[in-house]
Amino acid sequence: MPPEWSSSSPDLLLAVDRTSGHPLRAQLEHALRDAIRNGRLQVGERLPSSRELARALGLSRGLVQECYAQLLAEGYLVTRPGSATRVAGGAAATSVTVRPGTIAPRLLADFRWGVPDLRSFPVQDWVRAMREVASHIPTEEFDYGDPRGTRALREVLAGYLRRVRAAVADPEHVVVCGGYAQGLGLALRALADLGVRTVAFEDPGSPATVTAAATAAGVQAVPVPVDELGIDVRALAATDARAVVVTPAHQWPTGVALAPARRRALIDWARDRDAFIIEDDYDAEFRYDREPVGLLQGLEPHRVIGLGTVSKSLAPTLRIGWMICPPDLTEPLAELKHRSDRGAPGLDQHALARLIESGRFDRHLRRMRSTYAARRAVLLTALSEHAPELPVTGLAAGFHAVAHLPADTGEHHVIAAARAREVGLYGMSACRASHAGAPAQLVLGFGNVTERAITTGIAAIGDLLTGRLKSTRT
Ligand SMILES: Cc1ncc(COP(=O)(O)O)c(C=O)c1O
Repeated sequence: MPPEWSSSSPDLLLAVDRTSGHPLRAQLEHALRDAIRNGRLQVGERLPSSRELARALGLSRGLVQECYAQLLAEGYLVTRPGSATRVAGGAAATSVTVRPGTIAPRLLADFRWGVPDLRSFPVQDWVRAMREVASHIPTEEFDYGDPRGTRALREVLAGYLRRVRAAVADPEHVVVCGGYAQGLGLALRALADLGVRTVAFEDPGSPATVTAAATAAGVQAVPVPVDELGIDVRALAATDARAVVVTPAHQWPTGVALAPARRRALIDWARDRDAFIIEDDYDAEFRYDREPVGLLQGLEPHRVIGLGTVSKSLAPTLRIGWMICPPDLTEPLAELKHRSDRGAPGLDQHALARLIESGRFDRHLRRMRSTYAARRAVLLTALSEHAPELPVTGLAAGFHAVAHLPADTGEHHVIAAARAREVGLYGMSACRASHAGAPAQLVLGFGNVTERAITTGIAAIGDLLTGRLKSTRT
């Protein structure tokens, strides 16, 4: 669909060069044809009136009318009496085509990880919060603000994180950022400025994200293995890393919680090594049959940069996250944030603060906890029925699980065979630093999959998961 501009005469940026010696009419025709061919103007899109375009380009209206008439004759434009001139259907022979893959294929069920239930985004609460803040905040709040974020959100977040995550959080040392992704990048740049040359990350984990952020910061990224107790702190100590990125409350993607002895060992490592811990607390809001695990940040606020996000609790599109900074790092991080984009969008920050303060955020989380708990139960029931021998782990929190495929099953084969049955599956290999496909495991996201889709999807692929279909074996 082309954009339908609501103004009476949409602006259109075209240029004519009076010094070129080429007739102005020819130049304008050429510029319009080009704009249509290369997709800047799309089929059905309305052109400015000849009067407006003439005024914008400093040309006579008659010249623009002649030009439009020529392009009408050539079939580039269409018009009807009394209505605007528009780009004709079929005119854009080389107009922009949609890149393959930008339209998601229709699937029976898509077990893509990392996405919360998008249908449950509390639209009405968000609109209400936005309306309340937009009409009540002082005018100064529309200016560039403190690069750390609005005072209102920093105060609300600090209170919330102290209450719910046992953080040691002072609004002075909270910096609001564009989600975990930006927070990680800023943290690594600040640490690089302090002389950190190597950052370790959990394996399996998010090798692509950490490596990209580290490379951009001029830091080397090294993997450290994770076992059933969380990151192997001895293996970490054997590297020359002076920083580590960890997911202690719910290890991504295995789902294990960092064991108490390992938590202590990790903090000792940071103290002994004069190192920093970047704590990614991405989905702690959702836990089912496990005691809440507080933030490491609360135990060592001088060496832990606590990163949080609303991408799982609300929606990724908000692009809001936060950093609870060690006091000495607050100023450098705020300065990097300022240099990066001058601060997070203020109105959204105010709206989030309002949502949390009003209790509507907590209410949303309570609702989502029961939604995900129900989906988790449906997933387990479907698996026990259609793939009874399949071991599944990592289900104590969050909205993904790890399915352990039979040893002689190829992860890629299962994924491809499931795709042929219109079920989206995703492998653990993408989470491994080596990208190894063995042991064959799937990371099953169920956050954005309805109960009905979970049941139908698992029923469609149960035989693939247990290796009963011989063709899926490597
Ligand atoms: C391990 C992990 N942490 C955090 C996030 C959230 O990132 P962001 O806040 O940039 O959306 C993700 C997103 O999928 C993730 O996989």
